[in-house]
Amino acid sequence: MNERARPEAVSTSLENSAFFMPFSMNRAFKKAPRLLARAEGMYYYTPEGRKILDGTAGLWCVNAGHCRKKIVEAVQKGVATLDFAPPFQMGHPLAFEFADRLVPLLPKGMTRVFFTNSGSESVDTALKLALAYHRVRGEGHRMRLIGREKGYHGVNFGGTAVGGIVGNRKIFGALVAGVDHMRHTHDPTKNAFSRGQPQHGAELAEDLERICQLHDPSTIAAVIVEPVACSAGVYVPPQGYLQKLREICDRHGILLIFDEVINAWGRLGKPFAADYFGVMPDLITTAKGITNGTVPMGAVLMKENLYQTFMTGPENTIEMPHGYTYSAHPVACAAGLGTLEVYQEEGLLTRVGELAKYWEDAAHSMRDCPNVVDIRNLGLIAAIELAPRAGAPGARGLEAHLKAFEKGVYMRVTGDVIAFAPPLIIKKEEIDQLFGTAREILKTLP
Ligand SMILES: Cc1ncc(COP(=O)(O)O)c(C=O)c1O
Repeated sequence: MNERARPEAVSTSLENSAFFMPFSMNRAFKKAPRLLARAEGMYYYTPEGRKILDGTAGLWCVNAGHCRKKIVEAVQKGVATLDFAPPFQMGHPLAFEFADRLVPLLPKGMTRVFFTNSGSESVDTALKLALAYHRVRGEGHRMRLIGREKGYHGVNFGGTAVGGIVGNRKIFGALVAGVDHMRHTHDPTKNAFSRGQPQHGAELAEDLERICQLHDPSTIAAVIVEPVACSAGVYVPPQGYLQKLREICDRHGILLIFDEVINAWGRLGKPFAADYFGVMPDLITTAKGITNGTVPMGAVLMKENLYQTFMTGPENTIEMPHGYTYSAHPVACAAGLGTLEVYQEEGLLTRVGELAKYWEDAAHSMRDCPNVVDIRNLGLIAAIELAPRAGAPGARGLEAHLKAFEKGVYMRVTGDVIAFAPPLIIKKEEIDQLFGTAREILKTLP
């Protein structure tokens, strides 16, 4: 029996565990694990019973807080009633009910829902829908997909290709052909410490026009952006930027996709970012908060005219040869319906409106801490950017993350950017605790 297979070795140490952790420093983590055993409301609990304030809503997904009774019960009942139903050429009532219950919450004009199991699947589904839409309407020459530097669109091939985070792309070869990227919108020389949307940079949307002129707009199928780019370090769109993107897309018949895997579900004080910014995309990708993070699920939301375009061929054909074994999984639909009830009963999809000013002030009060070079915020999202330590980029951020966990706060870092995005049920005292702990740490961090 090898070392790893011995039960006592497995139970005493994680160092040789078989689990290949995603997006993690496997060896360092397994030597000094940070485990979460249970959760309730705003808090995680470690196996030793230490209470950890959740500053990142798990991974930007637990918007209603943890282990909410109504959602837990919906999942329990769901799995006991219908564990699985094939989604191809068959159906189950909850899938139709959930899609129809979502529609009144969607930005005006979005009327159809294609279910997936994650944000990454939503993105690749939306890109395929865009290509297929143009092909069905006789513009199959529109094959290019445009993303943006610093964009994060998940980890499948399409999403990695349109994504703009170098570290996530460089070891995976050529990815997908026909992809180009617009410039990112981050300009700390003009916009550092902006409160909310930065003033400068709407003109950066013109970079899309440059790409159109380079390739000819008739070759471009879709542009995908996160309205607020979150995973790469929280980049809030400059005032007027998204409006300009929409105008350029309209001028050239290009579909605009908003990736709202994080931005949706009340994070900005509206159900969707499209409503917050008053800019209507053609497709929206989402996931995470759709089930409050309880059961994996995602969705692509689309305008009626797109859906109808697919519905024009003979009725005995499959209109979209795409889908997953677990698309519209009955337990995920049950979780989603339970989640919607909690969101609606507690007004969580708009609650951030009341909290946003307090949150913004708390975040920007960190400006006098050592090494802080920028603070960015919108809705219930904030980022504190630290100067990188000479010769060791990311080290300061990682240390902040580790120290925060010791002090009972979970906060996520990307390089030297600390990101905050707690559950939307957070109280003002907990906002104080979150930034108070960050302050204590930054004061002592070399
Ligand atoms: C904007 C955006 N798109 C896509 C994804 C990928 O989602 P998932 O990890 O569920 O595949 C994420 C995840 O953080 C995201 O933030």
